[in-house]
Amino acid sequence: MESHGTLETLLNSDVLSGTPDAAAEAVAGAITQMAEAALSLSVLVATPPLHGRLGAHAGSANSDGDGQKKLDLIAEDLFAAALRRAGVAAYLSEEVEEASLFDAKGVIAVAIDPLDGSSNIDVNAPIGTIFSIFPMIPEGLAEPAHAFRQPGRNQLAAGFFIYGPQTSLVVTFGKGIHLLVLNDKTGTFVLVESGVTIPAEQAEYAINASNYRHWPESVQSYIDDCVKGADGPRGRNFNMRWVGSLVADSYRIFMRGGIFLYPGDKRPGYEQGRLRLMYEANPIAFLAEQSGGAATDGVDNILDRVPHSPHQRVPLVMGSTDKVERVRQYYLDLSPPTRDAPLFGRRGLLRD
Ligand code: F6P
Ligand code: MN
Repeated sequence: MESHGTLETLLNSDVLSGTPDAAAEAVAGAITQMAEAALSLSVLVATPPLHGRLGAHAGSANSDGDGQKKLDLIAEDLFAAALRRAGVAAYLSEEVEEASLFDAKGVIAVAIDPLDGSSNIDVNAPIGTIFSIFPMIPEGLAEPAHAFRQPGRNQLAAGFFIYGPQTSLVVTFGKGIHLLVLNDKTGTFVLVESGVTIPAEQAEYAINASNYRHWPESVQSYIDDCVKGADGPRGRNFNMRWVGSLVADSYRIFMRGGIFLYPGDKRPGYEQGRLRLMYEANPIAFLAEQSGGAATDGVDNILDRVPHSPHQRVPLVMGSTDKVERVRQYYLDLSPPTRDAPLFGRRGLLRD
């Protein structure tokens, strides 16, 4: 297994060529430290203490008012400590209201979702850690949150660890995506594949269909047409999957294709969907583009969005390019016209 190379050899290869030396070194250092934290977390997830559940509520709430679980707080402590050790300049976490300045001499800013998919902790389904690395900018020195007012296009690296049947790392430095798997005998991440591409042909979609009545008509129509299968305008049957951890639903798409949607909807507080731009949509969008796919907010590219606040949400449509583009057509054609409007017929022309 080791003959494929490890995270260390990947970080010492030319993956960061083109990034200024100091930033390249800082990115490599941050990922090395995060891998250590991920190893500790994966051990804890695989063999939790026998007393109490890791998914039990900790009695506190995160930046968005979500109840925090014990494991959310453990993950926060592990990754914050790792990134402090790595000497990153600015730090932003889903679990903490305010961004922090860790090291004024640091040259990178890291946004992180330390424990993604926390509703899956106690059901033994995959959960993960998502990260996004930007160059530090001077504005962030006086006000750390300002370090994150950069479009996702500026990311130097991004990725996620997933704690599932395997603990894996999916990462990009802007030259394709790499898949590494933890060898738990040696504690090292082993490179399995570089240049992973999202397979184009996959009739599979991921969406939380219980929100159907809240969705915009464009999304309802897109899903209606998938559900109609071979009898509808798409002329083929679709399958649906929804793990409920962004890392797991994304991982599946990187491995076997399809599309993921978390649109904005009519529920109060969900106008911009559920996912956060800085540490969920941006890193997943960077990975998607680097694997030949695409990611939008339904219409516009996620990576072009200039953030206005650290914890802002954004609708996310991610997956193979043709499918993401098709959803865009539905948004453009059907919002605001109703499904009975004449434009409705146009969708019949859009086929895979
Ligand atoms: O971090 C938010 C998150 O848990 C994602 O991992 C996941 O994709 C989504 O929320 C699931 O949301 P819902 O519970 O609304 O289906
Ligand atoms: Mn999350």
